[in-house]
Amino acid sequence: MTASVALPEHPLAWLDGRLQPLDQARVPVLDRGFLFGDGVYEVIPVYGGRPCRLEQHLERLAASLAATAIPDPHDRAGWQRMLRELVAANGGGDLALYLQVTRGVAPVRDHAIAPGLVPTVFAMAMPLPPRSPQVAAQGIRAITLADSRWALCQIKAVTLLANVLHKQTATEQGADEALLVRDGLVIEATASNVFAVLDGVLVTPPIDPGMLTGVTRGLVLELADRDGIETREAALPAARLTGASEIWVTSSTREVSPVTSLDGTAVGAGRPGPLWRTMDRLYQEYKAGLARA
Ligand code: PDD
Repeated sequence: MTASVALPEHPLAWLDGRLQPLDQARVPVLDRGFLFGDGVYEVIPVYGGRPCRLEQHLERLAASLAATAIPDPHDRAGWQRMLRELVAANGGGDLALYLQVTRGVAPVRDHAIAPGLVPTVFAMAMPLPPRSPQVAAQGIRAITLADSRWALCQIKAVTLLANVLHKQTATEQGADEALLVRDGLVIEATASNVFAVLDGVLVTPPIDPGMLTGVTRGLVLELADRDGIETREAALPAARLTGASEIWVTSSTREVSPVTSLDGTAVGAGRPGPLWRTMDRLYQEYKAGLARA
């Protein structure tokens, strides 16, 4: 598998319908994405030049656009073409594509949506380092926090202030992630979904409008099913985490990361667990297969 981490010296981004140097790309200040966070986005991993689960990401993008009534600027083939060009322009290899669509530039700042706005489409390629050996050896630290976000987290909105503040609280407490809890239930984390191994069963919260339907979450469930690992999509009471033998967080950029310390207490044996090692192997094999395809 190609594992390029470095981007070209001058990465190219997609804006205003064309590729241009990222450091010269500019969006007008009256763009509603800038003024209101009025836009949606996707982050798509690319392995060996091939986007991973592109269909699922484009489907979720279409759902986010429909939920926010932002007109979809491209059909499926158009998005695929654009992203293919972006990957090629940035040297292929392993990348994370960031794709953002805002409602566009309005004549004045007004909460009400002016008719006829043209969505702004922006996309760039970011480095995607391989899963770190340190995470595999030691896992990551997480804390739990009360979820202060809005009710529509299924929309992958660029309006991420609550996520940013939760993440900052985690960082200030020496943790890598915060698991977000609402009404006693773990919903997801600031930028990832959550899995726990309870009594030998891999449990993750069921799809709900209050959380993001993670593409990696779906892949992990699929890989687990294929390998005969018992899974359950069920409410995950925060109180049960103390009895979990393993906790994982999943995302397109962090893959499957084992949480080995939660709120300062060891999870299970305090090391990445055996089920995580199996899932990590399955995930790395899946990536390698994709890059070879
Ligand atoms: N975030 N939940 C939240 C709130 C997220 O922001 C993300 C991903 C996920 C996992 O989704 P996926 O498996 O489709 O990446 C769950 C991306 C990576 C980001 O904002 O950078």
